[in-house]
Amino acid sequence: MKEIKSVETLKEFLGTAKKRGAVVGLVPTMGYLHDGHISLIRAAKKHAGKNGVVVVSIYVNPLQFGPNEDFKKYPRDLKRDRRICMDEGVDVLFLPSDSEMCPALDGPNAMTTFVVEEKLSALYEGESRPGHFKGVTTIVAKLFNIVQPDFAVFGEKDYQQLMIIKRMVRDLNYPVKIVSVPTVRDQNNVALSSRLEYLKPESREMASILWNTIQKARDRVATRKSILTWRLRDKLMRYINRRKNVKVDYIAFFDSQTLEPVREVKKGTHMAVAMYVDGVRLIDNAKL
Ligand code: PAJ
Repeated sequence: MKEIKSVETLKEFLGTAKKRGAVVGLVPTMGYLHDGHISLIRAAKKHAGKNGVVVVSIYVNPLQFGPNEDFKKYPRDLKRDRRICMDEGVDVLFLPSDSEMCPALDGPNAMTTFVVEEKLSALYEGESRPGHFKGVTTIVAKLFNIVQPDFAVFGEKDYQQLMIIKRMVRDLNYPVKIVSVPTVRDQNNVALSSRLEYLKPESREMASILWNTIQKARDRVATRKSILTWRLRDKLMRYINRRKNVKVDYIAFFDSQTLEPVREVKKGTHMAVAMYVDGVRLIDNAKL
């Protein structure tokens, strides 16, 4: 496995690989890798084929964190990440520097050019985390420009992010195929996330409330043609409010392709939730 920190070295390395016709796949991450990320890496290996090159990038992107969010304390463990990538047969571990990814957040050297998707980014996660998706699309666009991959892999765990990236690729004609991977969960159906690290071990089981809420909604629509969105949300809120230390940020129901909110929920409607479990913000989603 090659470990590369500079854009120039990466370009040189990939230039040679591309000349011999290698398919290049990119898996963008913020590190602290878990089985969800590993599933993306495996999908990338498969998609790239025997002679392909899989690049995993690790960059905790300051642009996508709000001023009061967890950028500083976001978990990091490069030694462990490196080992995982080696074990998974990753070809290139790309660890870009701040100076090349995001020269400065303010001051005379601050970045002043961004990539903004204007419609889908305003909804749900975007409403709760203003500027978040602008940070994501900008950094992913930079990674696409640097790596110029044939394909890139994203998880359905961050469904809205996945759809926004697909939109960006369409709107800006990026020659990159977007491959998506289903959400990986633990034995309690908790969607794996680096942020689970913030939970005390005894609180971890509480995180299954996100999946249980989705199941509850699924049960409701399974036996009916449809149910008014506000009525279903009401029922779910009552179900959640029975628990201590769980606070709902949003419960959203929308069309899985357009992300447009729906007035009535039925089988096939997409559901996304964000909750604070013991003060830790977690998200999940699924098609009902
Ligand atoms: P990060 O949270 O590290 O996630 C990297 C990729 O792993 C994303 O595509 C995410 O959807 C996927 N992923 C995370 N948990 C998953 C799970 N349990 N099952 C399946 N896939 C999972 O998402 C980001 O980083 C950043 O926003 C990034 C795209 C790297 C831009 O900075």
